Amino acid sequence: MTATADEAELVTDFEAILGRRDRIEPRDWMPERYRRTLVRQIAQHAHSEIIGMQPEGAWITRAPSLRRKAILLAKVQDEAGHGLYLYSACETLGVSRQELTELLLSGRQKYSSIFNYPTLSYADVGTIGWLVDGAAICNQVPLCRTSYGPYGRAMIRICKEESFHQRQGYELLMTMQRGTDEQRAMVQESVDRFWWPSLMMFGPPDSQSPNTAQSMAWGIKRDTNDELRQKFVDMTVPQAEALGVTLPDPELAWNAERGHYDFGEPDWDELTAVISGDGPCNAERMAHRRRAHEDGAWVREAATAFAARTSEDGR
Ligand SMILES: [Fe+2]
Ligand SMILES: [Fe+2]
Repeated sequence: MTATADEAELVTDFEAILGRRDRIEPRDWMPERYRRTLVRQIAQHAHSEIIGMQPEGAWITRAPSLRRKAILLAKVQDEAGHGLYLYSACETLGVSRQELTELLLSGRQKYSSIFNYPTLSYADVGTIGWLVDGAAICNQVPLCRTSYGPYGRAMIRICKEESFHQRQGYELLMTMQRGTDEQRAMVQESVDRFWWPSLMMFGPPDSQSPNTAQSMAWGIKRDTNDELRQKFVDMTVPQAEALGVTLPDPELAWNAERGHYDFGEPDWDELTAVISGDGPCNAERMAHRRRAHEDGAWVREAATAFAARTSEDGR
């Protein structure tokens, strides 16, 4: 059999697995472009979890009570864990965590645009839980059924924790809403800042997202950016009403004909600017990550030296 015929057979087997909506596993043959798309997506996701620890982590020392501190600590630790599951899933595709870290630090791989916005008040901890983790859940629940096994299984664990994150954020905001006028103003101001960036988390509109069709054909993505954005808006508007906050979009209205909320257009130029490095906190986030990586060098060296000595001793 010729090499081309072999390859054709492999492609047929690969497509048959996708057709059955079964998982592709690390030992299975996969097209190089499928592998590269997954590495890019999973790495971006892992980096987002790790960089996303910064805006909230900054408030741990300033939490208003022991209870809030314990909740926030647990949440930020969960995000570190999510990063680790995802780096491990990515390593099954033949790329090491060290390489992925270098790609992040050199700016060749991205993380979610939302984490380039500052956290200015404690209400932001609640808003991030409610809106940012809420948007993450909309994005990630369909990924539990993604075609690549290790990614899908990591997502199942992650999604369980994300729903806790969303609830703690909502509960924090609800508590503040029952407080003083100043606290309610703080919540509204925070929601005003995070609403549009949350909508941008779903990525550019479908008309400007050239990779979506291929990712859906491969079963990596299960819904388009616009479908997920709509789902998020539909889920969030009643929650905002129950909370007693106003979402800062004059075009937001129920459309009985469509059975969905209509909403305004996010500022896509802002998204492009933030993705390409011009967000309010891009430089700060990367400098912090680089410093943390350098500060951790001795741990990596000690672990490597220990592993080498252990294998020499045959222990
Ligand atoms: Fe997470
Ligand atoms: Fe989270």
